[in-house]
Amino acid sequence: MTLSPEMWLHRMREEVPRGRVPVRIFNDPSVWQLEQERIFGRCWVVLGHESEIPGRGDYMLRYIADNAVIVVRDEVGSIRGHLNMCRHRGAQVCRAELGNTSHFRCSYHGWTYDTSGELIGVPYHKEVYNERLDRSEWGLVPVRIETYSGLIFGSLDASAEPLADFLGGFQWYLDYFLNPTGAGTEVCGPPDKWIVDADWKICAENFAGDGYHLPVTHQFGVKFGYFPSNNRTHFEGYAVHIPGKGHGIGLGKTPGLQPFSGLPEEVQEGMKRGLDPDQVEVFKDVRSAIATIFPNLSLVSQPFSRTPGKPGTRFCGMRLWHPLGAGKIQVYCWCVVPKDAPAAYKEEAYRSFTLLLGPGGVFDQDDLDNWRSVTRSAGSSAARQLTFPYDMGQDREPDPSFPGPGVAVSPYVSEVNFVNLWSTWLEYMLADERAAVGDVR
Ligand code: FES
Ligand SMILES: [Fe+2]
Repeated sequence: MTLSPEMWLHRMREEVPRGRVPVRIFNDPSVWQLEQERIFGRCWVVLGHESEIPGRGDYMLRYIADNAVIVVRDEVGSIRGHLNMCRHRGAQVCRAELGNTSHFRCSYHGWTYDTSGELIGVPYHKEVYNERLDRSEWGLVPVRIETYSGLIFGSLDASAEPLADFLGGFQWYLDYFLNPTGAGTEVCGPPDKWIVDADWKICAENFAGDGYHLPVTHQFGVKFGYFPSNNRTHFEGYAVHIPGKGHGIGLGKTPGLQPFSGLPEEVQEGMKRGLDPDQVEVFKDVRSAIATIFPNLSLVSQPFSRTPGKPGTRFCGMRLWHPLGAGKIQVYCWCVVPKDAPAAYKEEAYRSFTLLLGPGGVFDQDDLDNWRSVTRSAGSSAARQLTFPYDMGQDREPDPSFPGPGVAVSPYVSEVNFVNLWSTWLEYMLADERAAVGDVR
């Protein structure tokens, strides 16, 4: 008998707490059908970074699942989100990926909207509508926008909880990536983008703290001395998650590493001022910090040396696993640097970033080959009956001495964060149907 997705997802509710996850979730069109409405129709999803649209009228085209969203800074400097869909017959009113404008004019019949989404122009309004069309009713469909530390989040759900509640304390960790010195961050240009036959969920899982793969998948880097690491990292550091929210971070430590490794003096000093003492205590000794904000935004901070054996330069990479369907993503990949960092450091961090991440980056090639491979297996018919084990670290007690929010276990190589990730995903998938695109007019 073939089970409907809802039926086997209900069965999954018993399996996840004991560390079993169905293989098929990683590549199944019926799962994707539900995810569009229940995950991407309800969550706060990252659309970009404020520094991508610094001036009034600056806009960029982004997506929440299959919905195109214009993210624009309006006339008074507020960031707005609008569905990229003319209210007359649905043509896209914005055709460029990035630009600056005072208005969006539809190429079909010419309806025109200002940057705040109001319909300000209807050709022949008097002659053909006899002025009976109420323009105030037919503005672009708004997408809710909130920001945290430069990150722009959008939600299609008018009743979604406030972003601060959605993040649920994970801000404490995001500060390290997005506002380490108190002066904010900026991205180094537009994101690299490329399409991969991998499911967004295996990528999100990996960045929620898969330290286990590092010495195998990325062994070239350890062997050649491009980044400071050894297999002791398996016995150090923390995996932290926010229960019920899905967010997770792995804090890898390499014994003997210099504090603030890979950062210039100015950024080190900035961190001591910009972060609170507990944050400094945790992050100064981190070799790699790797995190996922549920559902599909990940961050990594890691030193990389272009000269084997030298300490190298720390960079911060941010990646959006934008789903194009079951088992297919477009990766968006940015380099993030503190605004007040020295120019020479920003340049060097960007160099390290491009060597490791992006379509030509060696880390991404290592990882994406494996994630494609996982996705291919998960889409096979025999895999529909199988589960994956998530046993690693489930017997570990949380460490009450860890100063940050959430549940921390040590060492960081474990699958504890992933069980929380899949429990959260499941709760969204099984929640009662609510109106997506809530504020439709
Ligand atoms: S579809 Fe845009 S004006 Fe007709
Ligand atoms: Fe990796």
